[in-house]
Amino acid sequence: MRVILFGRSGQVATELNRQAEQAGVTLDVIDRTQADLSDPVAVAHALEARIAASDAVINAAAWTAVDAAEADEAAACAVNAESPGAMAQVCARAGVPFLHVSTDYVFDGTGDSARDESAATNPLSAYGRTKLEGEEAVRAADGAHAILRTSWVFSAHGANFVKTILRLGAERDHLDVVADQIGGPTPAADIAAALLVMARAMAEGAPGGTFHFAGAPDTSWAGFAREIMARSGRDCTIGEIATSDWPTPATRPLNSRLDCSRIDAAFGIARPDWRAGLDAVLKELGETA
Ligand SMILES: NC(=O)c1ccc[n+]([C@@H]2O[C@H](COP(=O)([O-])OP(=O)(O)OC[C@H]3O[C@@H](n4cnc5c(N)ncnc54)[C@H](OP(=O)(O)O)[C@@H]3O)[C@@H](O)[C@H]2O)c1
Repeated sequence: MRVILFGRSGQVATELNRQAEQAGVTLDVIDRTQADLSDPVAVAHALEARIAASDAVINAAAWTAVDAAEADEAAACAVNAESPGAMAQVCARAGVPFLHVSTDYVFDGTGDSARDESAATNPLSAYGRTKLEGEEAVRAADGAHAILRTSWVFSAHGANFVKTILRLGAERDHLDVVADQIGGPTPAADIAAALLVMARAMAEGAPGGTFHFAGAPDTSWAGFAREIMARSGRDCTIGEIATSDWPTPATRPLNSRLDCSRIDAAFGIARPDWRAGLDAVLKELGETA
């Protein structure tokens, strides 16, 4: 199977590049040097030139700088909404399934129950708005598509919470971490594996739609940090603070719990235990206790 992938060096893109061969997938990567997602017309042209021989297209590229998006929402919108919309249109015209990654930040995070795919969206940040606009543009193209909403992504590469906590945990003996945001940390490797299963199924005619996919069990950032310290053998205690004690330009949802039963029913993809993914990442980083 031949899959076109937008993104080369991001967390999810790196894992897709690693796993593709074993999954029997030949990847044709379009990276930033070949098509900058700030330019939807260039993105459409790059995809049109290659799509004829492909079985599916995956977009793992995005503007993920959540706070920076507050200062330049138009630029984030081009990357997160206009370009994915252009990709989805090219795919729809060619009859090729399009798989796109989205986020829990499309929700406002009120309440304390897990949201399913039909829950009302109401993003609190510029990043969340641009990602929601991206979802809407993908649906509007009206081709075969899957939108995979995930949360709290981590891996051994790129910038993420695990690497930040490991660094700070080596420098200090105590850290205060936000304890009133609850969600599912999700290994990028598990997202990549899910996307490859979905791409194959959709290339063979399986229906798409919107799906939630996050690691289990749900925890807080403080709970996640404690697990990172324990499993890496860092001697650093974790205290708990409120989101209001840690002001950021972009507002984050407090409740990021995602109901992931739909993807299990449709594709047999269960929520992965993020603690196993964390151990694998720590091993890769040489940080196992
Ligand atoms: N990170 C999270 O915690 C999180 C949570 C929920 C959902 N998500 C979603 O998951 C998906 C993957 O996220 P990730 O964590 O793998 O992201 P990431 O590590 O930040 O990587 C982003 C990727 O997008 C590419 N990119 C950014 N701007 C671009 C542009 N203008 N033109 C072309 N390529 C561009 C980057 O390319 P370069 O390497 O060239 O910069 C990189 O490959 C995204 O859709 C994101 O919204 C992420």
